[in-house]
Amino acid sequence: MSTPMTQDELKTLVGRAALDYVQPGSIVGVGTGSTVDKFIDALGAALQKDPQFIAGAVSSSVRSTERLEKLGVKVLPAEAVSGLGVYIDGADEIDHAGYMVKGGGAALTREKIVADLAERFVCIADESKLVQTLGKFPLPVEVIPMAAAQVIRAFAKLGGQGKVREGCTTDNGNIIIDVTGLSISQPAQFEADINQIPGVVTVGVFARNKASVCLLGTPSGVKTLTF
Ligand code: 5RP
Repeated sequence: MSTPMTQDELKTLVGRAALDYVQPGSIVGVGTGSTVDKFIDALGAALQKDPQFIAGAVSSSVRSTERLEKLGVKVLPAEAVSGLGVYIDGADEIDHAGYMVKGGGAALTREKIVADLAERFVCIADESKLVQTLGKFPLPVEVIPMAAAQVIRAFAKLGGQGKVREGCTTDNGNIIIDVTGLSISQPAQFEADINQIPGVVTVGVFARNKASVCLLGTPSGVKTLTF
């Protein structure tokens, strides 16, 4: 009898599978997180075989930039590119329409900026991330520090309980508020509404920048969902 695959192995599987979505010689958008780390490892292996495999990357965090640069990948600032073919990133939750909750790694603002440059968002995730309705995972919201209490009160009116993430400062110098108790059945409207609260920099619902494709790691292999 074979042993079941661990979550880490499922992440490795989808990290490798994402290479198929990279146009050789292109500049690729790179997300943040443990699943993306597997994609970066796979990129490293591809670059060993073919140093021209990609021309460079636009990264969504200091963490991913450091990993990419260790492999010798040229990391370009987002403002230096006018568009990307593909953006590859993980998610904390993804639903059956490709809407996502992201920001568990506190990189949501830059992730949304880089995702918005790309024609296609390829989400890589293990199967535990697939949900019917978004909201079980505490919703990350990047907030300007002086607005913390106000933003928490605004979420309380919506039935959510917000808590400042301890010891966390984003790459942009802001805080993260994690909100529990929400059920996000209308992600696009929700994203637009929350972005109106003064002090909110970015809400971790990715509706405007939802996934085009999700490579889902399952024990029987990679399942491809297209939206
Ligand atoms: C970081 C993110 C990540 O994509 C998300 O948290 C998933 O991370 P992991 O691949 O480690 O499960 O949004 O801000």
